[in-house]
Amino acid sequence: MTHFDVVVLGAGAAGLFAAMRAGQRGRRVLLLDHADEPGKKILISGGGRCNFTNLGCVPERFLSANRHFARSALARYTQHDFIALVGKHRIAFHEKTLGQLFCDGSARQIVQMLLDECRAAGVDLRVGHRITDVTRSDRFAVATDRGAFTSDSLVLATGGLSIPKMGATGFAHDVARRFALPIVAPRPGLVPLTFASADLELMRPLAGVALPVVARCGKAAFPEAMLFTHRGLSGPAILQASSYWIEGTSITIDALPGRDAAAELLAAKRARPKAEARTILSDLLPQRLAQALAALHLPPRVMGEMGDAPLKAFGALLNAWRLTPAGTEGYAKAEVTLGGVDTAALSSKTMEAKDIPGLFVIGEAVDVTGWLGGYNFQWAWSSGWAAGEAA
Ligand code: FDA
Repeated sequence: MTHFDVVVLGAGAAGLFAAMRAGQRGRRVLLLDHADEPGKKILISGGGRCNFTNLGCVPERFLSANRHFARSALARYTQHDFIALVGKHRIAFHEKTLGQLFCDGSARQIVQMLLDECRAAGVDLRVGHRITDVTRSDRFAVATDRGAFTSDSLVLATGGLSIPKMGATGFAHDVARRFALPIVAPRPGLVPLTFASADLELMRPLAGVALPVVARCGKAAFPEAMLFTHRGLSGPAILQASSYWIEGTSITIDALPGRDAAAELLAAKRARPKAEARTILSDLLPQRLAQALAALHLPPRVMGEMGDAPLKAFGALLNAWRLTPAGTEGYAKAEVTLGGVDTAALSSKTMEAKDIPGLFVIGEAVDVTGWLGGYNFQWAWSSGWAAGEAA
């Protein structure tokens, strides 16, 4: 049985960062993962270019049962700290949109940077280890199919349930339960929404059509692109709204953001009375969507023959299209897992379990979930740093 100061379980974004920081502090660190290589989600993130942080990273852009929890870790290791690290490794990057920073080259550069930092900090990284047991007596003991290890501190960084085919497991939640840490019920986040019968009849033939919208769910509003799919709706605006969506509730789509659709339709009626409604609509919306909506909601008449009331009602629908999703595409398509280890059981400063000295939980395993756009990696870096400073 080999002893380490710190054993980190999970060599993803958060685990690599925590191991790096603990190693830099002179701790003897073992980083274990069951996958055949570290940082697999980093490699596929951001379309292979890794949206590694966001310039506008603020605590308000994170969801959690305790919306103040992320504040401390995010302030101790900020997006600017990570950008400085990326700069130190001479990784070229650019802002794509809305403060989202991507590598110019490849996400592999971020993984290589983390591996180089871990190596320099003396971290012992071992992949392909199936963890069979985690226990605690006077120290932590981790049993694997390739040996057993003990440690003074144990960092749980095995992520959430999203994308099981990439090796995601409920391991962190299981271990947390074993240590009597409460769990906020997990559910898929940043995920496409699915719709039933009537809505789907409209949406399915529109698969591939995209347009700028404002998607609203409760008080959250996201002015980004929406995409029709064979099963419902996707695109950044919908992924963002999905994290706020609770089963049975509705979302609202403004298909003409910043414009008064009713006023524009009434003006068009006066200016072009002989034009067909779908022709007028095609000036406002993607043609296929315009035709489908006109066929569904307006009589087959020219604008001049249309009453003001149906035009106003249709305009109101375009600005506030209320839709009730049937569900989501689930963990198979979800970018993140909402919920996880309840922050009430953790120190927001160190990520250490309040009742179990030496046990730390970080990254997606914790009930902190960021918006789309680099926020989730920033949480992985910030929470990993916090634990690495204390473990
Ligand atoms: P992560 O899942 O990264 O790592 C967990 C590690 O634990 C993995 O290496 C896994 O193999 C290991 N593990 C799991 N179970 C284990 C077990 N039982 N035993 C041993 N090891 C185990 N975010 C963002 O900010 N910008 C982006 O561009 C993207 N893009 C993106 C694309 C796609 C397709 C997905 C699915 C997700 C994103 N994300 C993202 C989200 C981001 O990837 C995610 O929030 C972080 O990777 C979370 O980091 P963690 O280290 O907590 O978990």
